[in-house]
Amino acid sequence: MCGIVGYVGKEQAAPILLDGLSKLEYRGYDSAGMAVYDGEKIVINKSTGRLKVLSELTHDGENMPGHIGIGHTRWATHGEPTETNAHPHFNESKTIAVVHNGIIENYLKLKNLLIERGYQFVSDTDTEVVAHLLDYYYKKYDKDPLTAVVKVIHRVEGSYALGIIFADYPDVVYSVRKDSPLIVGKAKEGNLIASDVPAVLKYTRDVYFIENEEIARLTEDTIEFFNVDGEPIQKQSKHIDWDINAAEKNGYEHFMLKEIYEQPKAVRDTISPRIKDGKIIIEELGMTDEEIRSIKKIHIVACGSAYHTGVTNKYIFEGLARIPVEVDLASEFRYRNPIFEEGALVIIISQSGETADSLAALRLAKEKGVKTLGIVNVVGSSIAREADKVMYTWAGPEIAVATTKAYSCQLVAQYLLALKFAQVRGQITDEQLKEYLHEIEMLPNQIEILLGNKERIQKFANRYVAAKDVFFIGRGIDYAISLEGSLKLKEISYIHSEAYAAGELKHGTISLIEDGTLVTAVVTQEELYKKTISNIVEVKTRGAYVLAVTNDDNLDIEKTADSVIYIPKTNAYFTNSLAIIPLQLFAYYVSVGKGLDVDKPRNLAKSVTVE
Ligand code: AGP
Repeated sequence: MCGIVGYVGKEQAAPILLDGLSKLEYRGYDSAGMAVYDGEKIVINKSTGRLKVLSELTHDGENMPGHIGIGHTRWATHGEPTETNAHPHFNESKTIAVVHNGIIENYLKLKNLLIERGYQFVSDTDTEVVAHLLDYYYKKYDKDPLTAVVKVIHRVEGSYALGIIFADYPDVVYSVRKDSPLIVGKAKEGNLIASDVPAVLKYTRDVYFIENEEIARLTEDTIEFFNVDGEPIQKQSKHIDWDINAAEKNGYEHFMLKEIYEQPKAVRDTISPRIKDGKIIIEELGMTDEEIRSIKKIHIVACGSAYHTGVTNKYIFEGLARIPVEVDLASEFRYRNPIFEEGALVIIISQSGETADSLAALRLAKEKGVKTLGIVNVVGSSIAREADKVMYTWAGPEIAVATTKAYSCQLVAQYLLALKFAQVRGQITDEQLKEYLHEIEMLPNQIEILLGNKERIQKFANRYVAAKDVFFIGRGIDYAISLEGSLKLKEISYIHSEAYAAGELKHGTISLIEDGTLVTAVVTQEELYKKTISNIVEVKTRGAYVLAVTNDDNLDIEKTADSVIYIPKTNAYFTNSLAIIPLQLFAYYVSVGKGLDVDKPRNLAKSVTVE
């Protein structure tokens, strides 16, 4: 969860590095730094805090002249977020500089070996080990940078995306990755490396996605690639057609609000290419009808919000396609020695496609020979490339740490998959499929309607900026919605919040309900209305203030709930796509009301690439 950039070319490097880092700050923002070769030596500047501190320190890069450099924005894993621990890191003679995203798991062993050879360390980071190890091999192998890089990647274990410059070779940037994302951009001003595409879009749309243990060597006008043994390889660039504004705020105060409002378009973009003449076409699935009929069990594995979409879609795969589904948190799945039966399908859901636990779960499934499908938003990401098949969500770049539009796209992608399976397996008629698809195609417009009443939610949210505990309750899919509503609130407002299966409250947690405690009851599942209403009564008699989120034809709930947010009527299977909208807005406005940094909440990063 750090961001790295590198540049070599005709222009001054530092301003380009700062611009690239500003597009990667969502990956980590507790410190930042740059290393630029000034014509004689490598100069490093780094600082704790947000990137703007580094910009001010270097006068927007003006006091770091030079045409080649590397930069880094950090989310601390090893070593406190201090200036000493900030990247880039030097070797002792300051002739090699390196930036790193990932974790070197055997860094302590290597550090001790280097100390025994007389190396001295100044930081607590695993990355500094790489700087000294490069120095060691550089000196050992005739000062050949490529050999030094090859030797280092054969020694280190763990995950890395590295940017490296050598003072003896002041016109070359080296880069290599394993498990942490890395791309190379080919621009007219020169060539770039970065952790993610938005960092280079201002300069180029021609990008190379680097595979594990591939090395890139960039000069001002050449880009070469090598395999793990240093042998030349060929790679094809890809043309990125994202709208560059998609990675900008476009007038919204925060990326999160922009992305909440992009949901109608994101959902439309995800479903429309896959619904043709009343049929579901998921070409990328690459599964024959026979293979779909042979599926005996689905494992949905993910983290955080992506996991919540899986909890939701268990009901839909089982309800419509009649396929048993097990939903796991990736961090649990990868260590619980899961049992895979004949005919299992593992679906990994991930916005970033780089979440370490989800990637590890994918690799576990593949090791066991189980068919895997990724539902991923970032094109070319590790999970997208390593899964047997990938079904992309077309949400576009999602910058805010708290996911919204990607979450909504993950929901509808699974709706379509479940309906496809149900139809191929003869569980629903063509007429029923048509009706379900009509409901799904209505969702973007219905989301738009909900986005139109943000003022009411903003007013309500302002009443709860001082809240200490908030509860979200629901049954069935309403419980899954509660999970996401609760996570949204706590991760950006820092208010403790808990989602609870409504029927489970009386088994302990109800003791926490006090006078004025806010309980948000999600009541969209008609056959469970009465049960949830009785749970609402239970918490109200203990003093709770109840906000209900329910279907707009459920008027008698006003006799029970203190406040009600109505959502347009849709099929019970799909209500998460609508009920989550007011809950996203509620969380957003509470966070704004508290004056917090909505897009970059404390302790979090957009992509959790460490376990
Ligand atoms: C959700 O708002 C969080 N940002 C987080 O829970 C996220 O959903 C989780 O880390 C999974 O990320 P992924 O979808 O990129 O794998």
